[in-house]
Amino acid sequence: MKATAIARPNIALIKYWGKRDVERNLPAVGSISVTLQSLYTEMSIEFSPDYAADELVVNGMSNRTMLARLAACLDSVAGDGRCRAKIVSESNFPIAAGLASSASSFAAAVVATAAATGQSKDTHQLAQLAGGASGSAARSLFGGFVELRNTTDNIAVTSLRPATEWPLQIVVAITEAGPKSVGSTTAMEISRKSSPFYTSWLERQESDLSAARDAISARDFDKLAEVSEHNCLKMHSVMWTSRPPIVYWNAATMRCLQVVRSLRAAGRGVFFTMDAGPQVKAVCLPEDADAVFDALADAQGVSKVMVSGIGEGATLQA
Ligand code: DP6
Repeated sequence: MKATAIARPNIALIKYWGKRDVERNLPAVGSISVTLQSLYTEMSIEFSPDYAADELVVNGMSNRTMLARLAACLDSVAGDGRCRAKIVSESNFPIAAGLASSASSFAAAVVATAAATGQSKDTHQLAQLAGGASGSAARSLFGGFVELRNTTDNIAVTSLRPATEWPLQIVVAITEAGPKSVGSTTAMEISRKSSPFYTSWLERQESDLSAARDAISARDFDKLAEVSEHNCLKMHSVMWTSRPPIVYWNAATMRCLQVVRSLRAAGRGVFFTMDAGPQVKAVCLPEDADAVFDALADAQGVSKVMVSGIGEGATLQA
C-alpha cells in the first residue's frame, strides 16, 4: 500500500484568480499554464492499518501546516474510510513562496494515492481531484502548455501542445525565500468580495484565454508575451485593489520587471509573469535564456536564479 509520484509545479500565463464554488474549490475562470521541468516534488505515500494518524514529512521535517489539506485530498481519492498514511515529500525548490509548491504537491498526492490504494482513475479524473485540493494543481497532471477549462459542473484539463513543439525556457528569480504573507486561497476570496475590478477581471478572461490559445497554436511569442503580461498585471491589479490590499511584490520584484522590460525593448524574446508571491518568472526563447539569466542574477535583491524548460505531467515512480 505504498506508491511514489513525481509532479512539477506549473506557471500560469493566463491566471486563475477567484472561485465560483468555494466548497468544491471550482475556479471562477479558466487558465493556461506551462509545466516546469527542472523543479519537482517527489511524494511517497504509505497507507497502513498500523498507523494511528496521518503524518507528513516535508524536506526531512515534520509538517503540520499542510497536513489537514493533504489528508482531505487523500480522502477525496481513497475515501474517508481509508487507512492512515505516512507521507514523505521532497521538493527541490522553496515551498510556499509563490512557486506553486502546492500544485506539484497535490498533483503528486493524487497520483500516489490512487496507485497505493489500487484506484483506477485516468489523468482527467485525477486532475479534477487535484483541483479540488488546489485549483492550480489540476494543471500539473499534464505536461507542456496546459489549459484548464470550466465545464458546467466541474473542470476539464488538457494539454494544448507538448514542450517539444515549442521548447521555451523559464527563468525564475527568487527575491524572497520565506513563506508568503497571505495564502492564495484566502487572498482570492478577499479579492472576490472586495475588489471593484473583480467583475471586469472575470468578464475579460475569455478573450485573454482565446488570444493565448491562438498564440500557442501559432507559436507567436510576441502575442503570447503581450497577453500574458497583460493578464498577470490585471490579476495583480485585482489584488492591489482588494480590501485589505494584497501586495506580494517587493522592491526587487519591480527591479526584475524593469530588467525584463529593458531586455525585451532591446530585442530579446522574454516576458514576465508573477503569481501569489514576490518571485518573477521570465518566459523566454531558448536562444535568449542565458542573457535573461545573467541579467536577473545581477538585479539587486535577487537571491537566487533558476532556469527550467517546459516539462512533463505527473508520473508514478516505478
Ligand atoms: C496566482 O491554486 O494556490 O498562482 O485553489 O485556493 O489552492 P487554491 O489556489 P491556488 O492559486 C493559484 C493562483 C495563482 C495563479 C495560477 O496559478 O493560475
